Amino acid sequence: MKVTVVGAGGNVGSTVALTVAQRDFAKEVVMVDIEQKEGDKTFYPSRGRALDQWESAPVHGFDTRLTGTVDYEDTADSDVCVITAGIPRKPGMSRDDLLEINANIVRSVTSQLMEYSPDTILIVVSNPLDVMTYVAYEASGLPKEKVMGMAGILDTARYRAFLAEELNVSPKDIQALLMGGHGDTMVPLPRYTTVSGIPVTQLIDSDKLDGIVERTKKGGGEIVGLMGTSAWYAPGAAAAQMVEAIMLDQNRIFPCCARLTGEYGIDNLYVGVPVKLGHGGIKEILEVDLDEKEQDLLAESASHVRSVLEDFKKLMKD
Ligand code: NAI
Ligand code: 2OP
Repeated sequence: MKVTVVGAGGNVGSTVALTVAQRDFAKEVVMVDIEQKEGDKTFYPSRGRALDQWESAPVHGFDTRLTGTVDYEDTADSDVCVITAGIPRKPGMSRDDLLEINANIVRSVTSQLMEYSPDTILIVVSNPLDVMTYVAYEASGLPKEKVMGMAGILDTARYRAFLAEELNVSPKDIQALLMGGHGDTMVPLPRYTTVSGIPVTQLIDSDKLDGIVERTKKGGGEIVGLMGTSAWYAPGAAAAQMVEAIMLDQNRIFPCCARLTGEYGIDNLYVGVPVKLGHGGIKEILEVDLDEKEQDLLAESASHVRSVLEDFKKLMKD
């Protein structure tokens, strides 16, 4: 089993690669990035990170071979490719501000991956996530089941972590669902949140829960404000969890960015919804019951994603 991570000289990509390797289910992880020139020196961040991580194998105790490259030929016949290439947000920027630069990067990376792994499964991480996943879908020519984006697992993990802290319980016991685009309009769903099966609404008062929902929506920005760049540990772990579910055919149910063709009244758009992940990618999109308020919030979030997609289409025409 072979996994490729593009953008792996950077923060999120290198974390995806190391997390996959530490879980020890893949034979190899190929880490791709571009070379970087500084004066008369040339640096190879993906090779450097791969070597450093491979040197940790004897300590961590994994067999997965990590290699770094700038050459797509080395990615040939990858089962899953994760795209984290692009620029991250800086303070004062929204994810949508990254649109033009990252769209060009994601399109070019996707085409190069497809040349050597025409049947691969693509997991996009680059922002603005929902539109970048659409870009990869169009550039790849792959069926929609094989192209998806990572955001919901991260956003739900943030929500679960905040709830665990507030309730003083293990994060492992919190199950939750969150839908919509990866941005401030995302829709955490308290009605579908439980602590070991107990509805969370029975354990926390509604003001506190509302506060946690709001903090979750702005969770990415909270980290940018603290670090001056965006998060990587939780995003990297979340993308690795998707790789594992696909490669080990786990049939895990996760919120992922998937192409909707009428589900939830949304057509021809990539948005976060619950899916079943296993061999072949997205095996099923689950349509859960939403009340009127939840449906309205999802529609609002989808309409924001559509407006960014329209901006992208306009940019490409100019
Ligand atoms: P980073 O700057 O640390 O790494 C990005 C890497 O992409 C760099 O090493 C850069 O050299 C590489 N790159 C740029 N152009 C490339 C090309 N044409 N081919 C191959 N590699 C290329 O940034 P970081 O923090 O790793 O973030 C990566 C992306 O992931 C950003 O767009 C960020 O907004 C997004 N992100 C998305 C999340 C999500 O939930 N979907 C969560 C966190 C970050
Ligand atoms: C995050 O949510 C910036 O999308 C990135 O951390």
